Amino acid sequence: MPEPARAAIDLDDAQARARVDPGGMMGLVVDFPQQCRQGWLIGQQLSASLRRPRQVVITGMGGSAVGGALLASLLEHRSPACFIVNRDYALPEIVGKDSLVIAVSYSGNTEETLTAFETAAEREAQIVCVTSGGRLAELAAQRQVPVISVPGGQPPRASLGYLFFPLLAIVERAGLAPDQHADFASAVRTLDGMREHLGPDAPGAENPAKQLAGRLVGRMPFVLGSTPWLGVAAYRWRTQCNENAKMLASSNLLPELDHNEICGWADQEGTASRATPVFLRSSFESDRMRARLDATIEIIGAHAQVEQVWGEGDSPLAHALSVIYFGDFVTVYLALLRGRNPMEIAAIDRLKSVLGGNA
Ligand code: PA5
Repeated sequence: MPEPARAAIDLDDAQARARVDPGGMMGLVVDFPQQCRQGWLIGQQLSASLRRPRQVVITGMGGSAVGGALLASLLEHRSPACFIVNRDYALPEIVGKDSLVIAVSYSGNTEETLTAFETAAEREAQIVCVTSGGRLAELAAQRQVPVISVPGGQPPRASLGYLFFPLLAIVERAGLAPDQHADFASAVRTLDGMREHLGPDAPGAENPAKQLAGRLVGRMPFVLGSTPWLGVAAYRWRTQCNENAKMLASSNLLPELDHNEICGWADQEGTASRATPVFLRSSFESDRMRARLDATIEIIGAHAQVEQVWGEGDSPLAHALSVIYFGDFVTVYLALLRGRNPMEIAAIDRLKSVLGGNA
């Protein structure tokens, strides 16, 4: 289907936005800072005591996996345990009594996560579930597994505040992370400030998220970030392009892309001519990574118009959440510009109905 004209809707026109987004995805994005506050409070209510594990395995799919990926990326180099993000039916063989398995499914009905939960229980791992209900809540009750219950009724991808902050509370409780309250509070203040200048009421002439969305219409975004947490943010941008804007997108990690993908940008007679590199950056990059990024941008920039989005705030947590928040706005604006309802995920719904049961 041909790309709709860029001016299909005026992003500053509230009525036009509401026509394309009748389910209110934009409102959910705007409310993200408040959802983070609620997610933090929900996590603090966890009453179970937990033993310190050797491994933390966070198992979930799609929108329910991204909080775990973010947690692992923020803690993996500063925690005594090893973190594994599992997006599959099977769990790694290493999972056993010394493991903490966190099963995350927003609906509670995702078959891969239910299967992994049963395996974790059979192997006598410590388990905590994060869900709004469904079969996972029932199985957890049968096996007397602690559950962190989050509010239901919205898309999993619009529930990151509910699905991330409880995980932080779980690993704090298991003795794997220091108190995060100060970082949390300042990260959410950063998000509050961003909402004002990226949100729908900020006119396009002064709104960098609306402007970037305008430049990405008709292009294929390649979202690029350095390990560990900017790479997770890049992956989140990609999946939000997929689900919100119904666009194909790519994501990749530095330093790895310097050893392969960097060559592909020279293909100006092929895919690269239609792709836009979007680098996610942070002042927390190490000196060496900054030098690498600057050199990479110079090489890729000889072939393509490079976009850069910088993290905000005073901690890695704030920077990670801020680039994710920026991307959530961009992908909903992209959906609107393309005339695609950002709430609708017909292909995923169809796949789940074809497979039946708890897909
Ligand atoms: O965004 C989505 O709707 C999907 O990626 C879901 O998160 C995924 O299919 C898993 O479902 P759930 O999050 O309910 O476990």
